[in-house]
This record gives sequence, C-alpha cells and structure tokens, in this order.
Amino acid sequence: MAIARATDHTATETALRLARGSRCLALSVDGDFATTCWVSEGKEWVGELDGWFVPSPGDAYIWDCATRPSCRGHHLYPLLLRQTVRRLGQEGIRRVWIATEWHNWRSVRGVTRAGFRPVGAVVCARFVCFRTLWVVPAPTAAPDLVRSLREGLTRIPSEP
Ligand SMILES: CC(C)(COP(=O)(O)OP(=O)(O)OC[C@H]1O[C@@H](n2cnc3c(N)ncnc32)[C@H](O)[C@@H]1OP(=O)(O)O)[C@@H](O)C(=O)NCCC(=O)NCCS
Repeated sequence: MAIARATDHTATETALRLARGSRCLALSVDGDFATTCWVSEGKEWVGELDGWFVPSPGDAYIWDCATRPSCRGHHLYPLLLRQTVRRLGQEGIRRVWIATEWHNWRSVRGVTRAGFRPVGAVVCARFVCFRTLWVVPAPTAAPDLVRSLREGLTRIPSEP
C-alpha cells in the first residue's frame, strides 16, 4: 500500500489507523510522497506521553509527521501543515493541535513557521505503573486553550 510505504509503517498498522478514522495527508514531489502527516478527530495514543489525547468535538490533532530525508530542508513540512489546517478549516474544524518533543528543533521550527502558537509544555513522569502529567502554560496562551489541552490529555477515551 502506497501510504504504508511512504510513512514507513506496516500495511497492518496503516490499515488500523485508517479503519479508526484517521487520515493521512501528503505532499508529493516528482510523483512520490515527500512529506506526510496523520490527522485524527478522535482519540489518539501519544507514545511519548504514554497516554491518550482526545480532542474536543470540532478539534483535530495532527501527528506522526515526516519528510523523506532527501526532501528535508525545503519547508515542505510547514507547507503541508498550512494546507492541512486550511483544509480542516473548510471542513468545519475550528482548532488544530500538534505536538513536538522539546528537543526536536526541526519540528519546532516547522510548526512555528506553519503558524501554530504554543499552548503549553506537557511534562510526564512515571513511577513504576503510575503516570502523571503536568501542563506548563505558555506565557502567551489563552487560559481556555490551556484548559482544553489539559482536558484533552485527561479525558477518558470512549470505546472502541
Ligand atoms: C521534522 C521534519 C518533519 C521537518 O521536515 P522538513 O520538510 O525538512 O521541514 P523544514 O524544511 O521546514 O525544516 C525545518 C527546519 O529544519 C531545517 N532543516 C531540515 N532539514 C535540514 C537539513 N537536512 N539540513 C539543514 N537544515 C535542515 C530547515 O532549514 C528548517 O529550519 P528553518 O526554518 O530555519 O529554515 C523532518 O525533519 C522529519 O521528518 N524528521 C523526522 C520525524 C519527525 O521528527 N517528525 C516530527 C514530529 S511529528
């Protein structure tokens, strides 16, 4: 399957993502997917936090983005993010969330270039089988956005 090849996942993993309603969006260069991202409007597992992010109704979450190594450094990632946000807006999505690990400066630059604004830093601590999260609000973030982020990280996902 082309998406599985382009995103470097197995066909099974890709099929599972599509089956639960996630979408893969991509920009092509010379007929090949150069940069890709996944979009979910429902719950999504965030491996780095060992937990779910459940966007509020009307919100979407962009995750697992990547640019093929040979295509990096040409701002294709922020271009894809901008186009994805525009498309989601046309579909009625009012807010789009994205996360980067704090040390991933390439992703931070791309996300900033695409026009995203910081809401908060999420700090995760694990003690044996217990996990706790803190949201440290960004100085410029509106309180309702910080509240939505906290809710998205603590909302119990509905089945399945
Ligand atoms: C993060 C990533 C998606 C960025 O993709 P991209 O299409 O190269 O994005 P950009 O071209 O906007 O690059 C981002 C910044 O890194 C710089 N950069 C990227 N690749 C570079 C390279 N090979 N050499 C030098 N600088 C590079 C860019 O110049 C840019 O900085 P700038 O805004 O100051 O110009 C890509 O590096 C990647 O796939 N990384 C692995 C997966 C990952 O980390 N995904 C993000 C988490 S969801």
